[in-house]
Amino acid sequence: MAKRIAVIGTGYVGLVSGACFAYLGHKVIGLDIDKEKIERLKRGEVPIYEPGLESILNKALKEGNIDFTTDYSYAVKNSDFIFIAVGTPSKEDGSADLSYVESAYKSVAENIDDEDFKVIVNKSTVPVGTGRWAKEFIKNLLKKRGVKEPEKRFEVVSNPEFLREGKAVEDFMKPDRVVVGADNREVGGLVASLYEKLQPPVLLTDLPTAEMIKYASNAFLATKISFINEIANVCEELGADITVVARGMGLDHRISPYFLRAGCGFGGSCFPKDVKALIHTAERVNQKPQLLKAVIEVNERQKLKPVEKLLKHIPNIEGKTVAVWGLAFKPETDDMREAPSIPVIRELLRRGALVKAYDPVATENAKRALRKEIEEYGEKLVFTQDKYNALDGAQALLLITEWEEFKEIDFDKLKGKVVIDGRNLWEPSVMRRFCTYESIGRP
Ligand SMILES: NC(=O)c1ccc[n+]([C@@H]2O[C@H](COP(=O)([O-])OP(=O)(O)OC[C@H]3O[C@@H](n4cnc5c(N)ncnc54)[C@H](O)[C@@H]3O)[C@@H](O)[C@H]2O)c1
Repeated sequence: MAKRIAVIGTGYVGLVSGACFAYLGHKVIGLDIDKEKIERLKRGEVPIYEPGLESILNKALKEGNIDFTTDYSYAVKNSDFIFIAVGTPSKEDGSADLSYVESAYKSVAENIDDEDFKVIVNKSTVPVGTGRWAKEFIKNLLKKRGVKEPEKRFEVVSNPEFLREGKAVEDFMKPDRVVVGADNREVGGLVASLYEKLQPPVLLTDLPTAEMIKYASNAFLATKISFINEIANVCEELGADITVVARGMGLDHRISPYFLRAGCGFGGSCFPKDVKALIHTAERVNQKPQLLKAVIEVNERQKLKPVEKLLKHIPNIEGKTVAVWGLAFKPETDDMREAPSIPVIRELLRRGALVKAYDPVATENAKRALRKEIEEYGEKLVFTQDKYNALDGAQALLLITEWEEFKEIDFDKLKGKVVIDGRNLWEPSVMRRFCTYESIGRP
């Protein structure tokens, strides 16, 4: 049955969830404090690059199942389920910055009245304990406003999101599982029923357990990546091939082949910040998260591997031109948060190189992420519209993000260059016919 849903925050998670819920037939209101974003969404324009999102959004708009606003009063009054999907970025000390979440709770609480019962659902990734804290926080806000029996006016539920950028619509529509954490199981069941049409495996838990499932899942996936990268670095010294090692490991169903691709490290808006936040949480309760700290450390070193390898071939890159292919933190997204291309470009510039960077969709976000470098280095950092233009006059190419369009290329254009393949995209035996080629963990 169609339910009334508000989604607070229309970023990668909020917009995809909102559009998908509307596509499933629910009545959705998407709310954001960013007025420009809301205006664009009302016109059916998608402000992010996410395959498949525009078509489901436009279908939902046409059928009148989704609406956008900046007005909390309108969103809260016209919904029964209020999903919080605002950002939870890292603070300096690695802990999660909950100021956006707190501000969203406040705005929601200002609009809950005497006869209401609202289900407030955390989709944002929030530290274990946040849900129970939120219950007290919201209750106190209602009490202050003189709302009658404040604890009966709402319930807080955790429903962490596991979608991957670039495959977000598909992941939402075909989830491996839906995790719902609630102290009130009946209300938890109501939230799970929003996904009924998808018939997903549902795991109903208490609040802190659901919150921890999200962090533990991301930390585990990040651990797999740092693990395989560490093994890759050892392979390289011993003449073993990491791609075959990973295949051999992945055939073991206890290991699985996923997240075993060696490369130049993980980035994105989730893995780095979530592992750091979990480290912070663990230390707060007097635990020693040694493994998690190593995951971050290995990753930080791995991000600069392409530069390290380049310097083996061209020890002094001052005044040399280096092309960088792929800027987004992974293919099929325009997201630049914590992208390995950022430290790579910084290091190249610091060493005096001229950098020509290319990405199929993330250039505008890359310019924002590298604003300081653009100011400091001026024309030493150039963004090109075409991958081959980036190669003009370049002595070397670093491949940082494995976009599909880099797979089949005119290899003649790489003749005489040093090519560092940070994602093991190309075949070494083929590449060595054209250029000086190195990849990660392959002989
Ligand atoms: N991006 C992912 O792949 C992914 C996957 C799973 C979980 N998550 C989690 O989901 C949450 C959201 O991530 P995201 O990548 O969608 O973030 P985002 O930065 O893309 O979007 C956040 C949106 O919230 C809006 N916002 C901020 N404060 C607000 C407020 N008080 N009221 C209304 N809107 C407000 C911002 O304007 C922005 O549009 C984070 O906790 C993240 O860890 C992200």
